[in-house]
Amino acid sequence: MRSHYNGDLLSVSEGEKVQIAGWVHRRRDLGGLIFLQMRDRSGIVQVVIEPDQPVLFAQAEKLRSEFVISLSGIVRNRPEKMINKDMETGTIEILASEIEVHNTSAPPAILIDGQEEVSEELKLKYRYLDLRRPEMQKRILFRNTVAKNLRDFLEAEHFADIETPILTKATPEGARDYLVPSRVNKGSFYALPQSPQLFKQLLMMSGFDRYYQVVRCFRDEDLRADRQPEFTQLDIETSFMDEESIMVMMEKMIRQLFVKTLDVDLGDFPRMSYAEAMKRFGSDKPDLRVAIELVDMADLLKSVEFNVFSGPANDENGRVAAICVPGGAELSRKQIDQYTAFAGRYGAKGLAWIKVKEIGKGIEGVQSPIAKFLDDNIVNQILARTNAKVGDILLFCSDSNKIVTDSLGALRLEIAKDRGLVENVWKPLWVVDFPMFEEDKGYMHALHHPFTAPKEQDISSLKANPTASLSKAYDMVLNGCEVGGGSIRIHKPEMQAAIFDILGIETDEANDKFGFLLEALKYGCPPHGGIAFGLDRLVMLMVGADSIRDVIAFPKTTTASCPLTSAPSKVSIEQLEELSIQTVIKKKLN
Ligand code: AMO
Ligand code: AMP
Repeated sequence: MRSHYNGDLLSVSEGEKVQIAGWVHRRRDLGGLIFLQMRDRSGIVQVVIEPDQPVLFAQAEKLRSEFVISLSGIVRNRPEKMINKDMETGTIEILASEIEVHNTSAPPAILIDGQEEVSEELKLKYRYLDLRRPEMQKRILFRNTVAKNLRDFLEAEHFADIETPILTKATPEGARDYLVPSRVNKGSFYALPQSPQLFKQLLMMSGFDRYYQVVRCFRDEDLRADRQPEFTQLDIETSFMDEESIMVMMEKMIRQLFVKTLDVDLGDFPRMSYAEAMKRFGSDKPDLRVAIELVDMADLLKSVEFNVFSGPANDENGRVAAICVPGGAELSRKQIDQYTAFAGRYGAKGLAWIKVKEIGKGIEGVQSPIAKFLDDNIVNQILARTNAKVGDILLFCSDSNKIVTDSLGALRLEIAKDRGLVENVWKPLWVVDFPMFEEDKGYMHALHHPFTAPKEQDISSLKANPTASLSKAYDMVLNGCEVGGGSIRIHKPEMQAAIFDILGIETDEANDKFGFLLEALKYGCPPHGGIAFGLDRLVMLMVGADSIRDVIAFPKTTTASCPLTSAPSKVSIEQLEELSIQTVIKKKLN
């Protein structure tokens, strides 16, 4: 049925007979000739049907978009003026001699040639058609290339692919669990894994030493462009390697991947502490393609007669910082108001601004609603510290440390996107030295997961001042996206119990949830650590897609549903009874 894929036809000599198979992409009738664009997974080629073959011609006249055909024909070079530079096979065409129609097609619900704007909902309902689009074919096949490359690297480094259970017990990675009822153990539930974290640690205790898995993870959390309820991790764990050697090896893997698949050398990945990332970029996944940084101002504003500034400037949990937007003095009132509303989503109560007209002239040289609270010296120092130029705008936020950091961190990216200030380069880095714990309303949370090892090995010092302790965790960040995260794990039962204790997980609860881990730690657990990469996110970045939905064959919508299969859906009463499940849907009160 097929001698060549379309993508291989360029290497065929003129005059040679070939058989190709695929879909009719487009058909055009032109001056007594019929032109078909024939599509297969490798690309599109033009086919010509000439009128001197009446039977064939009549057959071709009946072809419509998305009919499935195979055909035989002769490869010929196109005349100079007919060459199509936009088509990979644009220098050749096939002169058809025989066509076989394998199937017809109803008019496709969405056009495959991508000429129309269709809703995401419709695209996902007809995902099998959407996936026929050459762009989608390329992305999905590229994903396969990425996965193969990563596997090849790991196999060469003696990692073994080992599967772990999908029907399991909860793994705390910060999201809600998807639960599966057990028919035989009525009233009991499995949880789908948020990650294979605990199993990969157990595999280290079993002595497998180097494990990897391309594995589906399930998290019931609010969805965004870079989050899906089920997504794929490249999950990795090793024994007897420290943070340094794990990071070096993983950096080598990702660099090699980029060289082999995109011909891009990412260079050495810089390292930045969590504290520096939050201070300078307002994010634990800083996008280093954007030059704008948060600049602290509290020391200059402690005694100004403007409470909005002096309050947080004198508060140890407060922060006053500014970003300098190059050329931003041209922003209108309305635009500034829009950015103020944007920052408001992160809690900012306002955005004070200073437009720079002249340098070194103090208050005279700026335009600002807060100028009346400042003096020449302060203005000059602010401009010097932010390295502001004439025509720039400074945007200030003053509030708790968290609100200022989050608001300005998000704002720098938003403004950079709007104003074309995102450099077109690859900017990877490692973020390290994360705090072990974060305190929120009197409760301690693990910044990574509760199996991450602290740098502080003395349990009593750790308990005395938990928030001061850093962890042996590391995140790989690329262009502002967290593509991977991992850590050295706790390998001693006493330390693991102490961490549960600090997190307020009572002994009974710890035993109930993680008793098997605490037990396993008693039987000779090697020092171990690892990392997991978000495969979807990595591929999304590599193909330049806007959402991980574009690199997943059958993704879910933002409400975690699948328009194609209508999942999730109701089940029969019989099925529920068999599982001993009763559903209770609270009626909305009007
Ligand atoms: P973590 O929770 O950081 O770590 O996840 C690792 C990587 O998985 C990706 N990721 C996601 N991708 C798409 N949709 C989601 N909902 C989603 N959630 C996470 C991110 C992230 O960096 N067990 C640990 C890893 C370890 O410590 O080894 C873990 O799961 O790219
Ligand atoms: P007001 O005195 O409320 O008119 O505020 C004067 C300026 O300060 C306005 O530009 C406000 O947007 C700004 N502003 C108000 N609250 C804050 C804040 N928390 N941080 C930074 N600027 C603020």
